[in-house]
Amino acid sequence: MSELNAMPREELTALHAQLRARYDRFRQAGMSLDLTRGKPCPAQLDLSNPMLTIVSDESFRASDGTDCRNYGGLDGLPEAKSLFAAYMGVDPTEVIIGGNASLTLMYDIFMRIMLMGVGDGQPPWSQLPRVRILCPSPGYDRHFAICANLGIEMLPVEMTGAGPDMDAIEDLVAGDETIKGIWCVPIYSNPTGEIYSDDTVNRLARMTTQAKDFRIFWDNAYAVHRFAGEPPEQKNVLTACKEAGHPERPLMFASTSKITFASGGLAVLAGSARNMDWVRQQLFYQTIGPDKLNQLRHVRFFGDLAGIRRHMQKHAAIVQPRFEAVESILSRELAGKGVADWTRPQGGYFVSFNGPDGCAREVVGMAQEAGVKLTPAGATFPLGVDPRDRNIRIAPTFAALEDVEAAVEVLAVCTQIVSIEKILL
Ligand SMILES: Cc1ncc(COP(=O)(O)O)c(C=O)c1O
Repeated sequence: MSELNAMPREELTALHAQLRARYDRFRQAGMSLDLTRGKPCPAQLDLSNPMLTIVSDESFRASDGTDCRNYGGLDGLPEAKSLFAAYMGVDPTEVIIGGNASLTLMYDIFMRIMLMGVGDGQPPWSQLPRVRILCPSPGYDRHFAICANLGIEMLPVEMTGAGPDMDAIEDLVAGDETIKGIWCVPIYSNPTGEIYSDDTVNRLARMTTQAKDFRIFWDNAYAVHRFAGEPPEQKNVLTACKEAGHPERPLMFASTSKITFASGGLAVLAGSARNMDWVRQQLFYQTIGPDKLNQLRHVRFFGDLAGIRRHMQKHAAIVQPRFEAVESILSRELAGKGVADWTRPQGGYFVSFNGPDGCAREVVGMAQEAGVKLTPAGATFPLGVDPRDRNIRIAPTFAALEDVEAAVEVLAVCTQIVSIEKILL
């Protein structure tokens, strides 16, 4: 297939007419498809249905006899802490089991730091004239929304395929004490699907930061979400930070939202024992105890880390065909045409698609007119502004396979139409 911008004008005009005709047929078909939602599909949720009955009126006690129906156990049941310490690659003293959403833990952590500082005598960030957070982009819109909501400035940093651009980051943090932290999704990053290399992890841990209270917000939402084989090995960020003499630097998050039930799972916070003490002191004022029944459900359902991994293979069997469909339709329609590139993730929930510069909004708008909802252009960048207006996040897990195929075809056709119109202008 020849690159569109190298095609003779008449050929390009003819191709444009064909694509327009296809687009008109899509519009007439009255589709109503949605690729915006990074949600598990019903078949994925069904995998965890035994959890709905695994705790009953006859079995609601933890292994030490704790009555899980009652108050107490501020930072989690011991067996839940053991299971999720293994999941996070830390010691049980370095983990706290939260409620149903890791986003809540992240927001709480930011609120605490804003109001009270990081707990080592540094001032609360809200008292500083300027606080900035590094935001590898494209990234997770909800991370950026937390910063925007709290008046924290965001500094985008490019992704490289092995994590964010470390040369740029090291330069920035070394000379600017207003840069207080960085958001990271280290495995199957949202949306690029990349895995941070060990070198990236080590450099984040070792780098010299002007800010004494610099924090890495390490959101490991997709640590075990591989489509085939064992989950990737990655240098543990807490270990790396301890080795580098910065044990308090990472605050690690995860949840089972995309393992068991979204909004009905367990969220986990991990970090140095000192950081966990700091959080526990404040948790005391926030709650008299978490939902231990849900913790018990998870522990009984999985047993151990190997149980989580086995369960994830069942998820993979459901989601992998959807990702294969995205790849096969994008390559069929767009390969070699020089107008788009996209990621081929080995796990996670998203494909990151780049069209030509200055076209993403138009493509998303055209697809919408044909009944295909795509994540708004710009959503993957701080403040919703993609400086090149080219990135579109594809979330193929929730829709039925044939709907994923149809929606991606519409995306590909719209991308070509918009690209050709730009060339012909
Ligand atoms: C990177 C990332 N972190 C966190 C979440 C949300 O997690 P939770 O449901 O635990 O709040 C998502 C959901 O899409 C995500 O992509």
